Amino acid sequence: MPDKLKTVRTVETLRAQVSQWRRRDMRTALVPTMGALHNGHLRLVEMGLRTADRVVVTIFVNPQQFAPSEDLDAYPRTEKADVEKLRAAGAHLVYAPALLEMYPEGFCTSVSLAGPAKAGLEDKHRPHFFDGVATVVAKLFIAAGCDYAMFGEKDFQQLKVVTKMARDLSIPTGVIGVPTVRADDGLALSSRNEYLSDAERATAPLLHQTLQEVAADVRAGKSITRSCSAGKKQLKQAGFKTDYLEVRVAETLAPVKSKSETELRILAASWLGKTRLIDNIAV
Ligand code: PAJ
Repeated sequence: MPDKLKTVRTVETLRAQVSQWRRRDMRTALVPTMGALHNGHLRLVEMGLRTADRVVVTIFVNPQQFAPSEDLDAYPRTEKADVEKLRAAGAHLVYAPALLEMYPEGFCTSVSLAGPAKAGLEDKHRPHFFDGVATVVAKLFIAAGCDYAMFGEKDFQQLKVVTKMARDLSIPTGVIGVPTVRADDGLALSSRNEYLSDAERATAPLLHQTLQEVAADVRAGKSITRSCSAGKKQLKQAGFKTDYLEVRVAETLAPVKSKSETELRILAASWLGKTRLIDNIAV
């Protein structure tokens, strides 16, 4: 276990360190996070270590991707514990900029995508979200200049958006998707799971279970529309309020025209009390 893990807070120091590694012919992987780290994030670090020689983890709760009504203030901030976890996981550098380092006074640029960012899933319910994500991730990619960046499939639409953004802007950072890490009962790990009451936590795995059932029905040849409706009904009966539960073409997130031709993905977002859970699996 490395006994020193440096935290840097400016683009200049981040860039200097990554450049130094590059001069030594080392490959680097970036792991962007908002902190409150759990084993899902740490899996990204692990995959980064398998892919590259040095792993840089960023911790920044990005106000630009929260709507005024959302949980920016409540979002857990646990930098000290996060850094301890990253040290144990073998990460090589933490980049945790202050708000003004990321968004200096007068900041007025936004990265905005169509395509996967306008698929009518998360974007329909959180219209600010992907512009905020694409802007901060573009800044992180450009600032760090890493060879790779690790993103979780847990946020499947986000993974597609940042992949497209990097390609469209010719940013030479290869985006790598990492399968979702789950609790033993199937609930996808998420920093927001901390908001769940004990009773809600006991109900929460039904989201993943429902996705599995709908996926099995679709694979068995049942109608996508009817399978999704049955899934939504099951969630409603258990007390969930569902924003969406849809089967899409995995690569583009476009609506499905023919079931046989392409890989499909089922994606859902559903509220349990005050907590919004998202999940997705392959069909
Ligand atoms: P955050 O929610 O902290 O997630 C950081 C990364 O961890 C994302 O790529 C996310 O998909 C991944 N992740 C979260 N839970 C996971 C799980 N259970 N299994 C696998 N990977 C998981 O996503 C963000 O932050 C932000 O939008 C960010 C990209 C950092 C931009 O601000």
